[in-house]
Amino acid sequence: MSKADPKASEVLRYDYVAQAFHWLVALGIVVTFALGFFMTGIHGISLLKLKEYNWHKWLGVSVFLIALFRIGWDLAKPAPPLPKSVSLVQQRASKWMHYLLYATTLLVPVTGYLYTLAAGYPVVYFGWLALPVFYGKQPELIEPLRVVHAWLSYGMALAVVLHSAAALSHQFYYRDGVLLRMLPGRAQPPRGTS
Ligand code: HEM
Repeated sequence: MSKADPKASEVLRYDYVAQAFHWLVALGIVVTFALGFFMTGIHGISLLKLKEYNWHKWLGVSVFLIALFRIGWDLAKPAPPLPKSVSLVQQRASKWMHYLLYATTLLVPVTGYLYTLAAGYPVVYFGWLALPVFYGKQPELIEPLRVVHAWLSYGMALAVVLHSAAALSHQFYYRDGVLLRMLPGRAQPPRGTS
């Protein structure tokens, strides 16, 4: 854990590994969510629809795996402290938002996976690695798991929007360098402190 006390004039960044995991998970969530949204709107059965379902599942599993690494890395190397200009309320809100994002990043793929198994379809990761099948077709679980997966994904999307809005507000309104913590480069002093 970094014990460094940040000077008010300095932005302490996440390390490059944490940054890479963060942006990979972010990209994965956006693409997987968009695929999920559009594929379920396609009527009937078509090759394109089947392909989209497969890619949705493969990318969703990838998001889950990268998120596990991300959480492991965060536990080993906790986030650097926020600038002192960030209020206690904002710090608490940010902490709880991170917990919510981590929880949904794991739960959304898990419920999608369990739903797929309940519908009787094993997942073959990128067409070459058969993933574990914990149970066979479970008709009574299909609809509840589908609904839970859909609602958790929409809840996650809302959390992602709020999280992004907060990050942008720090960059363009508070101008305190919080967004820079997740971007590569040298530390830069926030406005009014240099
Ligand atoms: C970050 C990961 C994921 C996100 C953001 C996500 C998001 C979504 C969204 C938004 C939908 C459309 C919900 C609706 O309006 O009905 C959906 C549907 C679906 N998801 Fe996911 N999902 C993820 C991971 C997974 C995984 C890992 C699997 C399975 C291995 C999966 C399987 C499915 C299936 C089969 C559907 C179609 C449900 C239906 O036919 O109505 N998802 N997902």
